[in-house]
Amino acid sequence: MSKGIYLDAPNIGEREKKYLNNAVDSGYVSTAGPFVKEFEERFSGYLGIKKAVSTQSGTAAIHVALHELGIGHGDEVIVPALTFIATVNPVMYVGARPVFVDVDLKTWNISPDEIRKNITKNTKAIIPVHLYGNPCYMDEIVQIASEHKLHVIEDATESLGAKYKGRLTGTFGDFGCFSFNGNKVITTGGGGMVAGSNTERLDHIKFLVNQARDEERGYYHPEIGFNYRMTNIEAALGLSQMERLDDFLSKKKRFNERYRQGLKGVRGVRFQEEYEGSESSCWLTCISIDNKIDISALQSALKTKGIPTRRVFMPITEFPPYKRYKNTDMKNTYQIYENSLCLPGSTLNTEEDVAYVCKTLKEIVS
Ligand SMILES: Cc1ncc(COP(=O)(O)O)c(C=O)c1O
Repeated sequence: MSKGIYLDAPNIGEREKKYLNNAVDSGYVSTAGPFVKEFEERFSGYLGIKKAVSTQSGTAAIHVALHELGIGHGDEVIVPALTFIATVNPVMYVGARPVFVDVDLKTWNISPDEIRKNITKNTKAIIPVHLYGNPCYMDEIVQIASEHKLHVIEDATESLGAKYKGRLTGTFGDFGCFSFNGNKVITTGGGGMVAGSNTERLDHIKFLVNQARDEERGYYHPEIGFNYRMTNIEAALGLSQMERLDDFLSKKKRFNERYRQGLKGVRGVRFQEEYEGSESSCWLTCISIDNKIDISALQSALKTKGIPTRRVFMPITEFPPYKRYKNTDMKNTYQIYENSLCLPGSTLNTEEDVAYVCKTLKEIVS
């Protein structure tokens, strides 16, 4: 890769090539082969939970988790209005109704107070999203879920390695769903994982993602399943990336600290904040700028200086299929969307790159 500044490009090196060659040389390029199991075991071991089932994507992981919990027509699922569309589309796939709630202005994550206000007799689940790697207020969310007998599916697609009160995100709910898309903390090219401690349910998910095939009876399918399996090649990449996870996380955290130092005192700049006891994965460092700056113009100005950024997700209820679900003004969600940017966070970058971003941003904003 040519050396520029990268927003979220993956970090692939010699270790990855070795694992990939191994998979290719073995002939196991599809869903059979030893790396899938090895990756799942390494992953559940890292999380310190009982089981993890690999999938084709994070979206597939959320879909199959909802399906496994029997969520469907007539059910409501509480989701944040500020997230990537893939948190919500699976709610529609199973025929349930997404109920959008506003986020906290400081953490950008789903607000527990707003969750409480939106619970009805039809609510079946909450999908908290640890946005940009920042853990949600899990004590309160787990408490609400237990009071109202709701399921929790954590969208931990952006938060591998993040901790809430010392415990890794993705381990609080019925299921934690992860993504290994090319831009995530680690990548398999494209892939996902459903993790949890209910082994019976996870064994069933393993069966569902393989077209619900009863292997003992050959091509016999007692249920409607999915082809959501990960390939051996993807798992090979995943294993090699797991070995570098700690390095990636410490680099991302260092970038976050450097951004905070470098932008200290810049008029109107605020960072996405953590709850007390949280430790973000710092997948991407994001800022709000509260000085009436045109955020698209800022993005373009940075681009001309070789700095790629991305706008924060557009509120989901802005999209045609979801407009009819907007039931409040979602003030915080809109404010964050209108004023915020995600800064370069790829581990291919250097601390000098981060210093350059800070210097350039300062010049433009001041
Ligand atoms: C918040 C969020 N949810 C879900 C997903 C879906 O993951 P995938 O792209 O692997 O399907 C992503 C990542 O793209 C995401 O950022």
